[in-house]
Amino acid sequence: MAVFHLGVDYGTCWSKLALRDREARGGDVCYVLEDDGGDFRFPPTVTFDAGRLWFGREAETRSTNPDARVYRSVKARAFVDATIGDHPALPDGLALQDLAGLTVAYLCQIGIRSANRVAQARTTTARLGMTLGAPLSSLATDPNWERAVEVARVGLALAREPTLGSLRDGIALPIALELLAKARVGVVRTAVSNRRAWVRSEAEAALLWPFRCQEVPAGTFACVDVGAGTTSASFFAMVLGSGAEHQQKVRLAFYGTACRTPGMDAVGDELQRTFEYEHYASVRGQEDGLLARRAAQQNPRLNQLRDQLRRSLKDAWFQTYGKQPREGA
Ligand SMILES: Nc1ncnc2c1ncn2[C@@H]1O[C@H](COP(=O)(O)OP(=O)(O)OP(=O)(O)O)[C@@H](O)[C@H]1O
Ligand SMILES: [Mg+2]
Repeated sequence: MAVFHLGVDYGTCWSKLALRDREARGGDVCYVLEDDGGDFRFPPTVTFDAGRLWFGREAETRSTNPDARVYRSVKARAFVDATIGDHPALPDGLALQDLAGLTVAYLCQIGIRSANRVAQARTTTARLGMTLGAPLSSLATDPNWERAVEVARVGLALAREPTLGSLRDGIALPIALELLAKARVGVVRTAVSNRRAWVRSEAEAALLWPFRCQEVPAGTFACVDVGAGTTSASFFAMVLGSGAEHQQKVRLAFYGTACRTPGMDAVGDELQRTFEYEHYASVRGQEDGLLARRAAQQNPRLNQLRDQLRRSLKDAWFQTYGKQPREGA
């Protein structure tokens, strides 16, 4: 059996997937997964249409059907703030966390299909593990970590459920409810011994690349990730090793991290309203110029959003400041 590990960057606007194959010929490799059309971004949209729940591009395609109920910011609402945005009522019996769990299952199935293809070429079978990037300030202190771990575990349990079928074809609501309940029972039965095996905070995940990159020196840094629904910020040090590892970065030390709503979607929505664009997409790439215009500067909602976007950076900085030695102390 070949063992694979899927990294899920579950986004509010786009999800991205990386598959790690430790036993590849030539050694450990990790690559970004693409859909059949070659796109590495997977829409996390869920649409309830004709009694079935649909995911990804199919959910987008069906989003304009009459009577379709479309859920676009499930991640930000399920993990951080259930009150943001206007959304249709959830189908009876389903909670926001269930929609998140089903979306994670849909993404895991993409990983399982890829892993199976690779394993078949080696005439063996695949076993997939998974870690979910979640909008948490820190895995040690954020009270939402349990919810994130449960979504990750339920998602993978669902994806492994033999009777589930492919979520590309949608799933009837009663079957979704039944399989969610079954997955939850399995998850509750066994306690989690290592939460980091299931979930990483996005603030931490964002640092992998600068940490690995040889051209980024050791030292103290700030990192801000403005996503669609959430904004993460962190202050951290990349520390050099000693002895034989003295030229290498061997450790990350966090001074402060924060992850909050909103992100750029809220800014885009308000810019669209302010400048009366017909489509939200027309705002993309124009944000800087539009925000500099008088109508934007005088819009109290945009000013409020600007302050809210800075709150993650401020929160992270306050934690950092408290840890700095005071002069004369
Ligand atoms: N050129 C641009 N300038 C400013 N914002 C942009 C631009 N292009 C895309 N965006 C915005 O960036 C956001 C998408 O970013 P990203 O893919 O990082 O989000 P995400 O990972 O899905 O969200 P989150 O991490 O909050 O869950 C959207 O709000 C989109 O409108
Ligand atoms: Mg993101």
